[in-house]
Parts: sequence; C-alpha cells; structure tokens
Amino acid sequence: MILVTGGTGYIGSHTVVELLNEGFDVAIIDNLSNSNIRVLEGITAITGKKPLFEQFDLCDASLLNNFFKNNRVDAVIHFAAYKAVGESVASPLTYYHNNLVSLMNLLYAMSSYNVPALVFSSSCTVYGEPDSLPVTELAPIKTATSPYGNTKQICEEIIHDSIKAHPKLKSIALRYFNPIGAHESALIGELPIGVPNNLVPFITQTAFGLRDCLKVFGNDYDTPDGTCIRDYINVTDLAKAHIAALKRMQKSENESGFEVFNLGTGMGSSVLEVINSFEKTTSVRLNYIFADRRSGDVVKVYASTDKANKILGWKAEKSLDETLLSAWKWENFYRKSIAN
Ligand code: NAD
Ligand code: UD1
Repeated sequence: MILVTGGTGYIGSHTVVELLNEGFDVAIIDNLSNSNIRVLEGITAITGKKPLFEQFDLCDASLLNNFFKNNRVDAVIHFAAYKAVGESVASPLTYYHNNLVSLMNLLYAMSSYNVPALVFSSSCTVYGEPDSLPVTELAPIKTATSPYGNTKQICEEIIHDSIKAHPKLKSIALRYFNPIGAHESALIGELPIGVPNNLVPFITQTAFGLRDCLKVFGNDYDTPDGTCIRDYINVTDLAKAHIAALKRMQKSENESGFEVFNLGTGMGSSVLEVINSFEKTTSVRLNYIFADRRSGDVVKVYASTDKANKILGWKAEKSLDETLLSAWKWENFYRKSIAN
C-alpha cells in the first residue's frame, strides 16, 4: 500500500487518482486543515475506486505509529504541509512546527516499520532568484525568503541526513515549479481557502465574477513584457512524476539514496502571457490592472527538466492553453456544485 499524506489536498488528490489508475492500493492521511472530505467523492467518481482515508494530524506521533502498526505501508508520498508564503511570515512557528514535526514523525515511523521509500514535495523556492536559467538541480540553494521556503530546505536536509544514517531508506525530493490546472474531468481541482494568493486561481475567480479585478504585480521588471516569468506545470503531469519516482525507488535504481528532481515544463511564461493564453483558450475577457510589485517575488525562474526527462523518463505533456482551460472548467464545475 502507498501512503499519501495530504492526499485530499490539491496535488495529493491528483496523485491519488494517478496511483489508483496505475493499480496501486492507496491510503490517505489528511487532517483536512486545508482540504475538504468531498474530494474523496471526486477521486472515486474518476477512478471507480475508494482509497482508505484516515483523518488525523501527522504531528500526533502516536496516531501515526498506530497507523503504521495496523497497515502494511510499502512507500510514502508526503504532501502534507502548510504552504502559504505570507502566512508563514506572519506565523513562522506554526509553519516550522507543522512542516517539520510531521516529516520527523513520518521518518521515525518509517524507520520503526522498515518502510524503504519516501517521495517528498519540495519547491523551486529553494533556488530563490537563480543565477542562470533554466535552473538545474545543481544550482546553489539560496537563503530562504520565507519560513515556508525554509521548511522545504530544512526538510530536504532532514531527509538527506536520515538516509545517511539509515541506508535502507531511499528518498526522492521533487522540486515543483508552479503547479496549475485541474483534472480533465473537472471533478477535482485547486480549492484555495479565502482570497487566493496564487495567479491562476485568482484569474479563474476574477473571470467567474468572484473578484473585481486581477492585479498584475509589477510591469517594470527586466523581462520582455515587464512582468515576472514562471514555469507553470499541469497538475496531472506533475502527479504522474510521483509514480515515476516511486517506481524508480521500488526498482532500487537510485543508488545514491537521496535524489532531487525539478518538475516543470522547461518553459517560462510571463504573467501577461498567462492572461493572454487564458483569454484565448476560454474566450473570456479578464479584468486586470497593473499594480505595484509584490515584495519577495522572484523575477524569472523556469526549470531545466533534463534530469527528470532522462532519469525518471518523465516529461510534462500538457500545454499552457489546455491547462488554463482545465482550471476554468474546474472553477465553473465547483461553483455550480456548491451552489446546489
Ligand atoms: P494543499 O494544502 O492543497 O494540500 C496539503 C494537504 O495536507 C491538505 O489537504 C491539508 O489538509 C493536509 N495537511 C497539512 N498539514 C497536515 C498535517 N499536519 N497532518 C495531516 N494533514 C495535513 O497543498 P498542495 O498545493 O497540494 O501542496 C502539496 C505539497 O506540495 C505541500 O508540501 C506544498 O508545500 C508543496 N508545494 C506546493 C506548491 C503549489 O504551488 N501548490 C508548490 C511547491 C510545493
Ligand atoms: C508562490 C510562492 C512559492 C510557492 C508557490 C506555491 C512567493 C514569493 N512564492 O510562488 O514559494 O511555492 O506560490 O504556493 O510567494 N501574480 C500576480 N497577481 C496575483 C497573483 C500572482 O501578478 O494576484 C504574479 C506573481 O507576481 C508572480 C506570478 O503571478 O509573478 C505567479 O505568482 P504565484 O502564483 O503566487 O506563484 P509564485 O510567486 O511563483
């Protein structure tokens, strides 16, 4: 059985769908602090299968140990974490506690029950503003600009140190660039609580009429159109990379014990390019204005995906247009479903 922590969350739910489609048995642990139990219905509607679900906090070591005692876990994919950058600046201890303690409890339990493989959700935030582009896995790790970013750096170090001490454990950390979009069925997608911080949910909510206007944060950057550049990766493409990582560890191909991979498309898109793509693909006009720069924003970052392409045999397939269309379909489906 594959344990997926945070499996009712945005990326976790899409990964659970891909795992079930590939024939894996799946168990989810999630405390629903940032997701809704109804996600399980979406997963079942897509796959025709029902994953085991347990609702509790991974920071509770005794509940977690009981779970490992009662279930045969072959590998863990660890998504559960808090992820809001601004909130982490306001409440750093909450972030350090949740993101670090949950990982440490997992590693203790995995070592007690001899579970050999861990896939960890990391982030391109570890690269900060990179010195050269596309950014490769060999680029230096920059001082984190937020406690959230710091938790990702520290978690990677904790895993790496644990593997040195316990060579039977293997782990792959996947550094996501900007995951966007929803499952093609529109039955699961991103569910930001409150006002979205991220670009694509803000776009779809504005287009739907829930927000008056999108603010484009800065149009005077040193980029071709003056807006920031990111590598937007389709969430289903991203989910599939977790299966490739899992299979690599199960075949014991990763001799080194700890590996990191960038997960992106390899292509940078500016904020204006995303808006244009959204308008073109959905035929919806978006109300937007140029506003001040957002503090802490990186100007330009996009991935070198060579390592994931060659070693994981994985490549992002979906275009920006179709991914934005999937986000728009999900926004419409979700709003209608909660209105009923
Ligand atoms: P999400 O908030 O949608 O999902 C995380 C899930 O974990 C939620 O369902 C939440 O309820 C659960 N959770 C949090 N703390 C928990 C705890 N202590 N015990 C049990 N459950 C807990 O987030 P996501 O976008 O799916 O992100 C998944 C992972 O990917 C996170 O680790 C995040 O930091 C990382 N990541 C996300 C992005 C992104 O843009 N979404 C980018 C880079 C990295
Ligand atoms: C942010 C986090 C990153 C985290 C990721 C996923 C920061 C500095 N970085 O990435 O650590 O892993 O979210 O949670 O917060 N934009 C607008 N208007 C908006 C929203 C965004 O113009 O209303 C622009 C931003 O300035 C940026 C781009 O859109 O240029 C993407 O922003 P966003 O979706 O928030 O992602 P990141 O900042 O890349």
